[in-house]
Formats: sequence, C-alpha cells, structure tokens
Amino acid sequence: MKTKWTTENIPSQVGRRAVITGVNSGIGFEAALALAHKGAELILPARTQAKADDAVARILKQVPKAQLHPEILDLSVQASVHAFAKRVMERFPGQSLDLLINNAGVMALPTREVTADGFERQLATNYLGPFALTGLLLPSMKQIAGSRVVTVSSSASKQGKIEFDNLQSERVYKPMFQAYAQSKLADLIFSLELQRRLKAVGSPILSTAAHPGYAVTNLQADHVAAGLKMLMAIMKPFLSQDAAHGALPTLYAAVAPAAVAGGYYGPDGIAELKGYPTAVPIPKSALDITVAKRLWAESERLTRVKFGVLSDAA
Ligand SMILES: NC(=O)c1ccc[n+]([C@@H]2O[C@H](COP(=O)([O-])OP(=O)(O)OC[C@H]3O[C@@H](n4cnc5c(N)ncnc54)[C@H](OP(=O)(O)O)[C@@H]3O)[C@@H](O)[C@H]2O)c1
Repeated sequence: MKTKWTTENIPSQVGRRAVITGVNSGIGFEAALALAHKGAELILPARTQAKADDAVARILKQVPKAQLHPEILDLSVQASVHAFAKRVMERFPGQSLDLLINNAGVMALPTREVTADGFERQLATNYLGPFALTGLLLPSMKQIAGSRVVTVSSSASKQGKIEFDNLQSERVYKPMFQAYAQSKLADLIFSLELQRRLKAVGSPILSTAAHPGYAVTNLQADHVAAGLKMLMAIMKPFLSQDAAHGALPTLYAAVAPAAVAGGYYGPDGIAELKGYPTAVPIPKSALDITVAKRLWAESERLTRVKFGVLSDAA
C-alpha cells in the first residue's frame, strides 16, 4: 500500500478533542501542530508547565486560533498520571475525548534508573505510564466511530522480548536492545490487546499503533548510549527524516479513515526508516496472546489501574 499520505490528507478535526503526550518536542509537537491546523482542540501535557506553555506558544504562532490547553504530566510517576487524568476529567466531564495519543518516551538510558514507584525508568515512561493513563482516560472517550487510542511503538520492538522475570531489568540491563526494546514491544502488545478487549465489549473506539522510523528528534540526545549514538550519526544523512515526517504514521493511525482496528503503521521506505505512512508488519513477538494477557494482568497489578469492563473482557 503506497499512500503518499501527508498532513494535507488529515480530515477536518473541528469539534474533536485530543490528548497528546510528549508534546513539547519531536513527533508529539509535530502531531499537535498538524491537528491544530485542522481545527482540533488539544490537551497538551509536558513534564513542566514551562515546557507545555512553550509548546502552546509555538503552535499559536502558526495557528493563532488554536484551542490549546497546556498541562503537566510525568508519565514515569504514577501519582502524576492520576492527577493529570483527574484534572482532565474534571475540566472535560463525561465522554468528551476523541483521541488519546500515547507518544511520549525516553530511549536507551545508559544506566538503569528506578522511579519513585520502583519501576525501571524506560518501562515506567514508555509503557506503564501510558497503560495507566489509557485506563484512567478511557471512560472519558466518546463511544463513537472515530474515537481512537494511538500508541507509539518503535521498530526496536522487533528486538524486544517480554521477560517476566526481568520486567524491571532488575537481573540484566541493556539500554537499547533489552530495556527500550522491551518497553516498545510492550506498547505494541498493549495496543493490540486493547483492541481485542474493545472489540469484545462492542466498543466503537479503535486502538491503533505507529512507529516513526528514524526521525531526528531529541530522543537521540546526549544521554543515549555511545555505540547507539555513533550508529545513528552514521545513518542520519541517508536514512533519517525530520520530526514532521516522523509524525505522519502517528497521525495516520490517529485520523486516517483507512486506518483499521489493531493496525500498525510506519514509514514505507527502506527498512521502515523513512517515507510515507503504510501498514507495516507486526513482529511475531507482539502476536502472542498468552504473553499479552499476562502482561496486561501484570500491568494492572503494578499500576493498580483497572480498565473496568475491559479488565475481564479477555
Ligand atoms: N525519533 C525516532 O526515531 C523514534 C523511533 C522510534 C520510536 N520513537 C518514539 O516516538 C516517540 C516520540 O519520541 P521523539 O522521537 O519525538 O523524542 P523526543 O523529541 O525526545 O520527544 C519525547 C517526548 O516525550 C517526553 N517525555 C519524556 N519523558 C517523559 C515523562 N516521564 N513524562 C512525560 N513526558 C515525557 C519528552 O519530554 P521532555 O522534553 O521533558 O523530555 C518529549 O516531549 C517516543 O515514544 C519514541 O520512543 C521515536
């Protein structure tokens, strides 16, 4: 499927309300900007008020009439996830959200870090935070066609393995191809399992997933492990794209009418590193339903967030 799909193809988002995480930088910012251009009302959390305000100011410069709500959210802190969700539900009561884009993430922290909740930082930020946020915000989503939860994974998920005896990397910690890859595989497994559960209860909400290929963003910042940094620098001139192009698969998963339940979208170019959005193969490791159910149960246990009827819908 060669789509050449761009932001021009985004249908009008007037009257639609979205939450996008990780909005002050990279793909999250570009996705927010594109949706603002199309008239969406956006709830835009960042880790600090200053970062959220700055993202809002930068979008307003280009889309002066945009309806934007800066917010604070640290996905690596479960209390922050709960507080954010509570504020959203108070400010926008009832079923009032059309879109949740779980975009924020961190990559390849050189040494193992543990959060205040006792979770390994990449798993906490990339997976357990978004898992809890989705569970808390699902009741706020409109039960209509068009409502979607998008989870941003990575092609690193192909290298991942869910190690239930090393979920927090407590036994072995390898920054990229174990801890980061595991967290991004968990994202993809979650997206697919969420879709199965939504379908089981007859919900019209879709769960979709995306990966940006290799987009030049702050993700490849100074903290990233040295070997990986060198590899990315070598690939950069030929095999990378800018953040705006990196945001296209996420936007496609979020709003393209052709995106399907449980779909996974990435760039259509060489090795899925750059290009236009297309459906990409789901790694076999993400398709194991026994692992998906066990991961879901473990995630509910760790975060203490239940998904209402979806908890028992498997
Ligand atoms: N760029 C790529 O080539 C690539 C490839 C595969 C997958 N991805 C995925 O794409 C997504 C977006 O990444 P990006 O490339 O746009 O990187 P980025 O420019 O570094 O943006 C990441 C965003 O996540 C936020 N974030 C980090 N930790 C957070 C926390 N604890 N709570 C809330 N927000 C937090 C960051 O906020 P701060 O500025 O405060 O840190 C930032 O806004 C990530 O899920 C990443 O894994 C990217």
